[in-house]
Amino acid sequence: MRILITGANRGLGLEFAKQYARRGDRVFAGSRNGDPVDAPGTVPVRLDVADEKSIDAAHSAIGREIDALDLLINNAGIYSTVGGRFSGETFGSLTADEAAAIFRVNSIGPMLVAQRFTDLLSRGANPKLANVSSGYGSVSRNDGHFPHHYSASKAALNQYMRSYAADAAKLGITVVILSPGWVRTDMGGRNATLSPEESVSGMVRIIEEITPRQNSAWFNYDGQPVAW
Ligand SMILES: NC(=O)c1ccc[n+]([C@@H]2O[C@H](COP(=O)([O-])OP(=O)(O)OC[C@H]3O[C@@H](n4cnc5c(N)ncnc54)[C@H](OP(=O)(O)O)[C@@H]3O)[C@@H](O)[C@H]2O)c1
Repeated sequence: MRILITGANRGLGLEFAKQYARRGDRVFAGSRNGDPVDAPGTVPVRLDVADEKSIDAAHSAIGREIDALDLLINNAGIYSTVGGRFSGETFGSLTADEAAAIFRVNSIGPMLVAQRFTDLLSRGANPKLANVSSGYGSVSRNDGHFPHHYSASKAALNQYMRSYAADAAKLGITVVILSPGWVRTDMGGRNATLSPEESVSGMVRIIEEITPRQNSAWFNYDGQPVAW
């Protein structure tokens, strides 16, 4: 398969890159600085999802290498711009700048990346767009203790992808939304319950098995459907 992964330089994105490269897939590993990532055999691509010009440049660079993409993984994401798990998320201290920065990476960026790469995806073999969302994106499960900006940004990502899926389906592209579980990455922290290997193996299986009839479905890494 020909695959593009955003945020592939560390965490879940890097683990996706490693697992697909090991299988022999052709992996374009997106990162903000464009440096080679720690996954042998992958092709580094400079791609800052918060920057439209960077998305255009990455599209041109990849388009010079391949004429079709089989899988795009919108993985890049941020929890906060100010560090710490709940910094910037305390009611009374919420700011527009922090909200906009998080939405730009977690919601708007993936939507623009999907839009830009639709032409290459539409020419792929059984093409798929996978989006790494979060259980925090669930509106029905929000008990009032979800982080304000981050959870809203992931709910917005899910909505963007539901809308995108309708147009994508006409082009033969299947969209899937994924929750990785709580994973030991820089974002998840060291107390998280899952290793990146466990989480990503589960998500790779779901991506493999998703059918066009399940277009825009939302699954946990273990295959369980997630409540919207
Ligand atoms: N870990 C968890 O428990 C967990 C749970 C639910 C959902 N998620 C989601 O899983 C995805 C991956 O998270 P992770 O745990 O692997 O986090 P991570 O270890 O913090 O890695 C985040 C990745 O996103 C990249 N990134 C951030 N802003 C970017 C931008 N503007 N353009 C391109 N890349 C950018 C980072 O690149 P830099 O190195 O340049 O910053 C890094 O490669 C995220 O969407 C996150 O919301 C994670």
